[in-house]
Amino acid sequence: MLDRVLQTIDAERSETLERLKDFLRIPSVSTKPDHARHMKECAEWLHWELDNIELDARVMPTGGHPIVLAKNVHRTGRPTVLIYGHYDVQPPEPLELWTTPPFEPTVRKDENGYDAIYARGAVDDKGQVWCHVRALAAWQANGGIPVNVTIFVEGEEEIGSPHLTEFITGHKDELRADIAVISDTNQYARGLPAITYGLRGLAYMEITVFGASHDLHSGLYGGTVPNPANVLCELLAALHARDGSVAIPGFYDGVLPLSQTERGLWARLPFDERTFRNDLGLSDLSGELGFSVLERIWARPTCDVNGITSGYQGHGAKTIIPASASAKVSMRLVPNQDPAAVKSAFEAFIRSRLPAGVRVEFVTHSRAPGIVISIESPAMRIASAALRTGFGVEPVLIRGGGSIPVVSQIKSSLGIDTLLVGFGLPDDRVHSPNEKFDMDAFFCGTRTAAALLHGLGELKVT
Ligand code: BES
Ligand code: MN
Ligand code: MN
Repeated sequence: MLDRVLQTIDAERSETLERLKDFLRIPSVSTKPDHARHMKECAEWLHWELDNIELDARVMPTGGHPIVLAKNVHRTGRPTVLIYGHYDVQPPEPLELWTTPPFEPTVRKDENGYDAIYARGAVDDKGQVWCHVRALAAWQANGGIPVNVTIFVEGEEEIGSPHLTEFITGHKDELRADIAVISDTNQYARGLPAITYGLRGLAYMEITVFGASHDLHSGLYGGTVPNPANVLCELLAALHARDGSVAIPGFYDGVLPLSQTERGLWARLPFDERTFRNDLGLSDLSGELGFSVLERIWARPTCDVNGITSGYQGHGAKTIIPASASAKVSMRLVPNQDPAAVKSAFEAFIRSRLPAGVRVEFVTHSRAPGIVISIESPAMRIASAALRTGFGVEPVLIRGGGSIPVVSQIKSSLGIDTLLVGFGLPDDRVHSPNEKFDMDAFFCGTRTAAALLHGLGELKVT
């Protein structure tokens, strides 16, 4: 039956693509309040698509953007697969850097001559959600999906999934499954699909330094008052030591050394530092001394300023001492680091270095622990076989540097592991202008999703 399903997928390529374009045209930017209408529209759109392939689909309200949940008829004795994805996307700005507008999906060749669809959300994560929906559709057209499926698509992943814990803990019975599947990660390289068995976590802090009660003339007051912008820069500069390590006391508590097995696995992966560097337009890399690039991305925690704001930002000059200065700082965490402890360590570090005369306030944006998933499981072997069917190539095992907060919540609330089987390419420009999804990856991904449902049918039900 899988052969017939794969044939259906191949035969329906153009329809699959046209419908993906409809999905991508909806500007579902979760972080912007004025897009709330589009978020609802997008959830409704998905709802109807899932309804159309005869799943029992619902749009469920949360304290924020709605969640779309759909199921086939669950039969006892069959394994249950929870497929998670997100329909929200990152803001598209800066708009002027897009070759074609972010919400007008366009198929064209990338700089290496490969066909790709360009749009915000193309690969992160609408395109990859679409792979699963179309795989489910193909099964439904060929006698039905071979496992119990619950598909669960949220609208707040890109803002740290603030209402997800509440939703999952409140719907444990409905979400109960034997294994979760997420396609929201990357292949290792073109032609080298991968299973991601680890992700970094996140502690995202915003810090604001306050000085005088209002902006001051920098000539009349300069030299006598604390300048929050100067103070903030000093604080941020102190976050790293000269060797590239993070200087916050306690930051590395719990961080485990890389095992020999993993070091060996990673050493066998093709990696060319020059290409990596050149693709980014950089003459040199930076980072923690004594670790390879892959180790730094996959197995070491980091601390990075993601944005700084203070004082006059308009055209020309304006002579002021700003009343406040703020920065957004994200810390990527690795397994066994405690996000709450890292947050406290960050705050304590800043407070301990704060000069007299200024005051500081913190906002915590999102927190998620780093994760690793056992690579020795029947589900991993099934995922590997599915990628082989979908791409015609033996996949590699990798970790990822990004974060997907739901993975640890699925583990802690539902007690199950997640298969991270993602179809993106490293040069897809996620979160950046000209985001794309490679056409081959898209169709091989859809085939993989179909093969995975077939393979997971063999999973022992507990
Ligand atoms: N899909 C990404 C995460 C990702 C991409 C992991 C590629 C591995 C490889 C996800 O949508 C994302 O951007 N997550 C955020 C999480 C945050 C907002 C809590 C991230 O990593 O910054
Ligand atoms: Mn994503
Ligand atoms: Mn993302």
